[in-house]
Amino acid sequence: MGVLIAGQSQFFDSFYKSQKVNNLENSAKVLEEEISEYGLQSRETQELLSVVTDNINGDVFVLDFDGNMLAGESNMMMGHRINIPRKEFEEATTGEIVWYQSNVGHQRHNNVEMIGVLVPSTSYIYFFQTPLQPIEEAIYIAQKFTMYTMLIALVVSIILAWMFSKNLTTPLFKINSQAQSIARLDFDERWEDSRGDEIGQLGQTLNTINDELKMTIDKLETELAKEKSIDKMRKELVARISHELQTPLSLIKGYIEALEDDIYESESERQNYYQIIQQESDKMSKLVKEMVNLGVLESQKVKLDIQKVDLHSLIQKNIDKFAIEAKKEDIALKYDGQKQVKAMCDEYRIDQVLTNFLDNAMKNVPVGGEIKVAVKKEDQRVKVSVFNQGKHIKEQQLQHIWESFNKGEKSKGTGLGLSIAQNILKLHKSNFGVENVEGGGVVFYFDLPDSL
Ligand SMILES: Nc1ncnc2c1ncn2[C@@H]1O[C@H](COP(=O)(O)OP(=O)(O)OP(=O)(O)O)[C@@H](O)[C@H]1O
Ligand SMILES: [Mg+2]
Repeated sequence: MGVLIAGQSQFFDSFYKSQKVNNLENSAKVLEEEISEYGLQSRETQELLSVVTDNINGDVFVLDFDGNMLAGESNMMMGHRINIPRKEFEEATTGEIVWYQSNVGHQRHNNVEMIGVLVPSTSYIYFFQTPLQPIEEAIYIAQKFTMYTMLIALVVSIILAWMFSKNLTTPLFKINSQAQSIARLDFDERWEDSRGDEIGQLGQTLNTINDELKMTIDKLETELAKEKSIDKMRKELVARISHELQTPLSLIKGYIEALEDDIYESESERQNYYQIIQQESDKMSKLVKEMVNLGVLESQKVKLDIQKVDLHSLIQKNIDKFAIEAKKEDIALKYDGQKQVKAMCDEYRIDQVLTNFLDNAMKNVPVGGEIKVAVKKEDQRVKVSVFNQGKHIKEQQLQHIWESFNKGEKSKGTGLGLSIAQNILKLHKSNFGVENVEGGGVVFYFDLPDSL
């Protein structure tokens, strides 16, 4: 700071002096003009001389090239002889502007530091003499002022630095720590500040990255888990399918071998063998068909063909399908509901569900028992239920009844019927289920939107 003040004082000093010399040079020009217009001894020139003397608070003299005083005004040198150094005066006679500093003994001010300036023109040399004291004072004040300013600047910069670190470094530290968390795939840290500047924006951007990354990774993880469980299900399914196919295949193989080796005792036994082969082939064919059916439904690529369907006719057709068999076993197969019921659904798929529900009911109803298909309208939906008298389904089986290959011990079917039904009903967003009915019997039900 000291160096700065010293440097500044030096600069200020020479700047001030050169400025002063410059001003006096201008005054000389104005005087020259005045003299050439009105003459040296005119009132106008005299007046101008007094104005300039007042302005510079010093002396102004017009000299000839021999050093004789032709005109002049003195503000401070009353009765004081002018003492122009010979060397400087001679330099001025060559046409140079010359200035010098000197100590002048003075009546009023003792030993005043003076600045003298000699400005030559074509006919005269203008001499100005003015005290330097105010300049020194000004420099002193300027130095003091500078010192205070610098002290204030120092304090302000310390405060600013502190605020800057609080405002910038701390949030940047936070952002850095959040970025590091993200790099560790830890997404709990978030930018909470609401500042609107670049740092705030950076924080918000980091939050977005944080959220998007979190979402993507979560998605990937669930996809991976799904893949794994689908893979597991696929393996289970293959194991089950091969198991299911094994029984009919080995039966068919055995009977074909028996036929080839003529191991049968009568023509009717031979016919019986063919019949068994036929039955087992049919079973296999049904199994394969249903598996394909289930596979398509489970792939969830099925597009339902939703139409306004006459539900009553659809149910009646199904009842008719089982009528002969029911009559044979003295089973009462009834429809309970309105004749005018329509619902929005895929007719072909709902037909599959109804067929399986009725087929199951027929398989589980005792001889002479009752099966009742009921339809009820409830809150813009149509509820369809298939009830059959018979034994309750055990709790243990009830939980897994909709799973593929789940079937009762006595079942001769594939155990895929209800699994297919479940897939179809889920695609319809239907509320469906099964319940053991108090007083005996089982009811399977589902609902569909009313056609309105
Ligand atoms: N109404 C019912 N009463 C008692 N048990 C039932 C009834 N409906 C289904 N079940 C039980 O649920 C099992 C699974 O039924 P699902 O329709 O899926 O297979 P399935 O009828 O055995 O074979 P598929 O339908 O391929 O001919 C049946 O084997 C049976 O044990
Ligand atoms: Mg079935």
